[in-house]
This record gives sequence, C-alpha cells and structure tokens, in this order.
Amino acid sequence: MSTMWTNSRRKWCCLLFLSVVSLPTYSYFILQAFSSLRRAPPSFTGNTTILLWHWPFGKPCNLSGDVCLEHWGIHGCLLVDNRSLFSRANLVVFHNHELMSGRQKLPLKRIRPSGQRWVWLSLESPENNGKSWVQRKHFDYIMTYRRDADITIPYGQLVSKEAENDGTVGAFIPKGKTSLACWVVSNYSKHHKRTAVYEKLKKVIPVEVYGRAVNKYLDAHNLLPTISRCYFYLAFENSISTDYITEKFWYNALVGGAVPVVLGPPREQYEAVAPKDSFIHVDDFRSIEELGNFLKKLAEDKERYAKYFAWKQQHTVKLYRDWRERLCAICAKLRKPNT
Ligand SMILES: *[C@@H]1O[C@H](CO)[C@@H](O)[C@H](O)[C@H]1NC(C)=O
Ligand SMILES: *[C@@H]1O[C@H](CO)[C@@H](O)[C@H](O)[C@H]1NC(C)=O
Ligand SMILES: *[C@@H]1O[C@H](CO)[C@@H](O)[C@H](O)[C@H]1NC(C)=O
Repeated sequence: MSTMWTNSRRKWCCLLFLSVVSLPTYSYFILQAFSSLRRAPPSFTGNTTILLWHWPFGKPCNLSGDVCLEHWGIHGCLLVDNRSLFSRANLVVFHNHELMSGRQKLPLKRIRPSGQRWVWLSLESPENNGKSWVQRKHFDYIMTYRRDADITIPYGQLVSKEAENDGTVGAFIPKGKTSLACWVVSNYSKHHKRTAVYEKLKKVIPVEVYGRAVNKYLDAHNLLPTISRCYFYLAFENSISTDYITEKFWYNALVGGAVPVVLGPPREQYEAVAPKDSFIHVDDFRSIEELGNFLKKLAEDKERYAKYFAWKQQHTVKLYRDWRERLCAICAKLRKPNT
C-alpha cells in the first residue's frame, strides 16, 4: 500500500506538466501584473530557503535530502513545504491555481520577515488564471513560462548537444509514418480558435484525432508511438497568449517525431525558442486550405520534409516536468556568482 502511494506520488509529481486545468475564463489582466511587478531580482549569498506554501494541484513530491543538490547539482538551495519554517524562508512560493479556487489563502496575518520575497507561480495561460491580478500587490516576483517573467520556467527548451557527423537528417525521422496529420485533444470546445481551424483543415486533408474529447485517450505509453507515425502534429494551444508554448509543441510534436503545425502566439515567439524551420505556423498561410495543400505536398517531398528535422543534429529537447526542478532553478537564477 505504501509503495503504491509512493509510486503514484512520484508519478504525479513528474507528470504534472501534462495536467489539464479546466477553469472558467475571466480575464487577461494578469498580463498587466506580469509587466508591473518587475523589480531587480534579489541575490542571495548564503543558503537560500524556499518555502512552497502549497503543492501545485495538491500533489506533493518528496523533499527529503538535499533535493536540489542531489538531482540537479544546485548547492545551498533548501526546498521546504513545512509552513512552520515561514519565518526562516527567503522566498515563499504560491501556486496560483489553489489561490484562485480558494482552497489556499495567502498568510497575510503572519509577520513577514524583512527581505522575504513572495513568488507567484503558474504555468497556465492568463485565460485560465482567474482574477489573481487582484492580489498582485502581495507578490514580489512572477514565475511563469513567459520570457519576460522574473523567473522564467518554460515547458521545454532546446539544448545544444555534440554534433553528430555520422548520419543524415533522415536518421532522425521516425520510420513507418502512416498518417498525414494527427491531433490529440482533451477539451474540444467550440469557443477555441483551434476548433475552427481543425474543422476547416479536415475538409482538405485527413486528420486523425485522439484524446478524451473523442474517447480515444492515449496513455503515456501510447502517446509518442502514435504521434511518431504521423507526418505532422497539430500543436494547437487551447489559448493564444504571449509565449504560451506548451508540452504540445515540446513533447508531443518535437519529442514525438512529427513536425509541429502550431497554433498559438505569433511566429516570432516560436522562433525565439526554436529554429524557424522546425515547425509550420498556421499563420504562414492565407487560408487553411492552403495550409492543407502545403502539408500534403511536403509529406511527399522526402528531402524537403527532412529539413524540418535538421535541428536534431545540434539540439535535443529538454523538458521540465518536475516542480522541484523548477523551484531549485530559482536558486540558480538568483544566486550571485561565486557563492
Ligand atoms: C474547455 O474549454 C472551455 C473554453 O475554454 C472551458 O470553458 C472549459 O472549462 C474547458 N473544459 C475542460 C473540461 O477543460
Ligand atoms: C549551508 O547549508 C549547508 C548544508 O546544509 C551547511 O553545511 C552550511 O554551513 C550552510 N552555510 C551557511 C552559510 O549557512
Ligand atoms: C524520499 O527521498 C529520500 C531520499 O532520496 C528517500 O530515502 C525516501 O525513501 C523517499 N521517500 C519516499 C516516500 O519516497
């Protein structure tokens, strides 16, 4: 029983970035909060204690031992979730989802030690973050996926690797592709822009749809093998907002080995984090019909299709899936050099 609990805890901990949050849409005001809150980040010279006030989505991870050092090689960074350590914490981190739902509250009545900083944490788009901007005055730092956040925590990024001289790009393309375009969708809503695009696209090319929305749920073992059989993956975000590029792009498409067709922020924002020829942007085309015809032709042109995998010669995808890694990254970011 206890092993089961441990295993399931660990699984939750590491798969959190795949969780889908369903919440009412309120506003985009948090965008203003993002820009109005910027202050010079503090720099800590000694050990840094980071108190996570509550676990994201109520799913705790194991904090025993020197987690940041043992797993990520970061020294002097103590992660705690014991609220009795409040008065000793340099930073206190609040995940917005629970504040928004009212399940957790800010400790406004406690005496806040001078120099203690509060961090607002979320990986959701503004549309799914509710009215948290109301409370923004309480926070010193914003920690989110945006590049202009005080502490940026992307869903994924490309990291350089040793160049491989031995093969052609073709070696990076999964064999046995049988479907032209695939899409995994858990929430199919008429209000999403992506739904309109899909409806038009499926009239031009066949699109295989998986996911809860169509009762074809793919578990973690079947997700990537299924996607790898597709030439293109529709990495359509559920909400269009600045820098909001999620695991649909990094994991499903890039790791899965299908060329991403993206619907999300403008092309420049993708190009800021990935090579311009690693993806196809819906906005590159005057119409969805044109997009569909382009995909059809591209799948038939082996040489041209292979160019979309050229990035794999120099880069690999680094995913961020563990909240602890993200929290440890705060220390790496705020630490003064040589301490
Ligand atoms: C699906 O998306 C709609 C529109 O954004 C939203 O109102 C709804 O809560 C979402 N449902 C789920 C189950 O995520
Ligand atoms: C930092 O923490 C380490 C390990 O807990 C400890 O050995 C060291 O003395 C601490 N340093 C300071 C300056 O508090
Ligand atoms: C937590 O991590 C520590 C150190 O890595 C380990 O000894 C312990 O068994 C883990 N506890 C659980 C409940 O997984």
